[in-house]
Amino acid sequence: MKPINVGLLGIGTVGGGTFTVLKRNAEEISRRAGRPICITTVADKNLELARKVTGGEARLTDDAFAVVADPDIDIVVELIGGYGVARDLVLQAIENGKHVVTANKALLAVHGNEIFAAAQKKGVMVAFEAAVAGGIPIIKALREGLTANRIEWLAGIINGTTNFILSEMRDKGLPFAEVLKEAQALGYAEADPTFDIEGVDAAHKATIMSAIAFGIPMQFDKAYVEGISKLDAVDIAYAEQLGYRIKLLGIARRREQGVELRVHPTLIPAKRLIANVEGAMNAVLVQGDAVGATLYYGKGAGAEPTASAVIADLVDVTRLHTSDPEHRVPHLAFQPDQVRDVPV
Ligand code: HSE
Repeated sequence: MKPINVGLLGIGTVGGGTFTVLKRNAEEISRRAGRPICITTVADKNLELARKVTGGEARLTDDAFAVVADPDIDIVVELIGGYGVARDLVLQAIENGKHVVTANKALLAVHGNEIFAAAQKKGVMVAFEAAVAGGIPIIKALREGLTANRIEWLAGIINGTTNFILSEMRDKGLPFAEVLKEAQALGYAEADPTFDIEGVDAAHKATIMSAIAFGIPMQFDKAYVEGISKLDAVDIAYAEQLGYRIKLLGIARRREQGVELRVHPTLIPAKRLIANVEGAMNAVLVQGDAVGATLYYGKGAGAEPTASAVIADLVDVTRLHTSDPEHRVPHLAFQPDQVRDVPV
């Protein structure tokens, strides 16, 4: 069957992982998608890096706008990150009738309402499993597996960098700055690591999960956000002595007044499962009225775990693209509900 043609924007950590996994597991992935998925074009400013990663197996360009305008491309994978040029590229791809797969949580949390409305109008998909909790299929769990439930609350360790920092500080007594450098070297941290340590990245992800769980628009600006930069080794040690662990949690909860959305360091009794999630691992607890409490655990950052989610979306979009457009499911069905300012 005719392959589906993918244009990959950004061949950094996740882009490289996507290229590698797609190649390694090509046979299984094609079978599951119903047709081969081929990255035919890669756009990156660093053409030398792109050449090294792709080994001459894709067309290379430094002009991402040419890729989103290319009539031969069916799906655009946006892995550039940030709110600026990524927004223009995604909106242009949609305008040109292309499906989009993105790992860009910042973009969706801030401009998601505009992007999903544009996609709805054009009848194309915007898929974003990789935007939250890396390799954990939490978007699918919320949207598909738990679809029968009224979600009551969710709470998660959804930033690998800060969880890695907190774990290393506690276990090895290493200083904050040193562990942050290690997280950057391992490819966990954002380009601007203040997004990690000040809780902004976790708030982006909590915003996206809350939109799906509660059927509300993205309301990142209403979230309460506090990171881990004010924590000292002594806070971690005192917590330990009292039988607690400190974790940076993203929390979204249904309240009578509306949805509460917050990110902050939280004391969790050491015997709880989520208190024992260490290193760059992520975990999300979701409480549904029918299912009760469920817990999702896995690698929340890094090349191949995030690539796993990007490719899951590629397979989904390929299946939907190949099916009758009349029967495509809308991305998100928002209710006019609001995130409320609920005192923490
Ligand atoms: N900087 C993010 C983290 C990457 O540390 O979790 C994955 O979204």
